[in-house]
Amino acid sequence: MASSNRCVEKRTVNDVKRDFVGTDPKNTLKLMPLPVVIVSARKGGEINGMTAAWVSQVSAEPPVIMVAIRSERYTWEMMKDTENFGISVLGEGQEKIAGLFGSVSGRNKNKFKEGNIEPIVSDDGLPLIPGSVAAFVCRKTEVVSIGDHLAVFGEILKSWKGEEKYPLIWYGWNISKLGNGSRPE
Ligand SMILES: Cc1cc2nc3c(=O)[nH]c(=O)nc-3n(C[C@H](O)[C@H](O)[C@H](O)COP(=O)(O)O)c2cc1C
Repeated sequence: MASSNRCVEKRTVNDVKRDFVGTDPKNTLKLMPLPVVIVSARKGGEINGMTAAWVSQVSAEPPVIMVAIRSERYTWEMMKDTENFGISVLGEGQEKIAGLFGSVSGRNKNKFKEGNIEPIVSDDGLPLIPGSVAAFVCRKTEVVSIGDHLAVFGEILKSWKGEEKYPLIWYGWNISKLGNGSRPE
């Protein structure tokens, strides 16, 4: 087998014990910062949404995002039979919305009424959260079952820039605010 002389990795896992402490992946993944969004759906006259942190952009052209959703979520029950879904990117001051939409199921309660939130409704009827940093309407393209979640891919059909404020992040099992950033050099 041809060996690559471009490889610069010299240290093995035994050498790096001072840098890294072996842990359970579940505990280590909490150190990967994630956004906090509301995934929203409409089915007939009913609207619902849920908080999601397992979200990422996966393609620039066309613009596609992925959100990982457990199949038992009521939001998924509504989304699976409908074409489009909404994403609202939450920012500072919206922590309570993240808590409400992430702890109550739309099966039992209308979260918009409960939180006194008047949604902004897109042309296709999807509820978006007012005061968010950004919002998108996506067309569901593929759904892949991976472990205990469904990876739901959505091509962005429409996007809006919202309030200029710091987005919320999910980090260390807490919701916090993103601080001042700098461009990578
Ligand atoms: C910060 C936060 C992030 C969450 N991220 C996800 C996620 O990425 N995927 C998921 O399936 N559930 C996630 N949840 C849990 C759902 O938001 C929660 O179960 C919600 O009540 C589901 O509502 P529904 O039954 O109306 O769809 C998250 C909850 C919180 C608080």
